[in-house]
Amino acid sequence: MDYEFLALKAAEVKQNAYAPYSNFHVGAALLTEDGKIYTGVNVETSSYGLTMCAERTAAFKAISEGERKFTALALASDDPEFCPPCGACRQVLWDLCGDIDIVFINHKNEIMVKKLSELIPLAFGDERLKKLENK
Ligand code: THU
Repeated sequence: MDYEFLALKAAEVKQNAYAPYSNFHVGAALLTEDGKIYTGVNVETSSYGLTMCAERTAAFKAISEGERKFTALALASDDPEFCPPCGACRQVLWDLCGDIDIVFINHKNEIMVKKLSELIPLAFGDERLKKLENK
């Protein structure tokens, strides 16, 4: 799949973001290994801490539909520059999606691609829990 297409999907879905408190709109598009796209936006609530980021919305939607194998997640936001995923989303994507490509798109429609492992070095993951189980 063309990452430009995926990134434009993230930019398009951003308009559905529900962000009345921060007014910062984020859109994500998660690509499965067999070419399906699950989109997500940030959804805020009056109890701010219950907010869900766009990346996690997309990942949870996909997992809920039975998807387990992913290749890339594109991210678009109101920031005119490339907007990096927050730390919580990096951990969740690492656990649920593995070392996928993270595709950034800025307001000039330029694209940058990084491996998730570059964004979360020395990540904690389930292999550490499994190591303990075998003791
Ligand atoms: N946000 C995301 O959706 N993804 C991120 O990776 C960073 C932050 C949202 C959460 C909140 O609704 C708004 O952006 C401001 O933090």
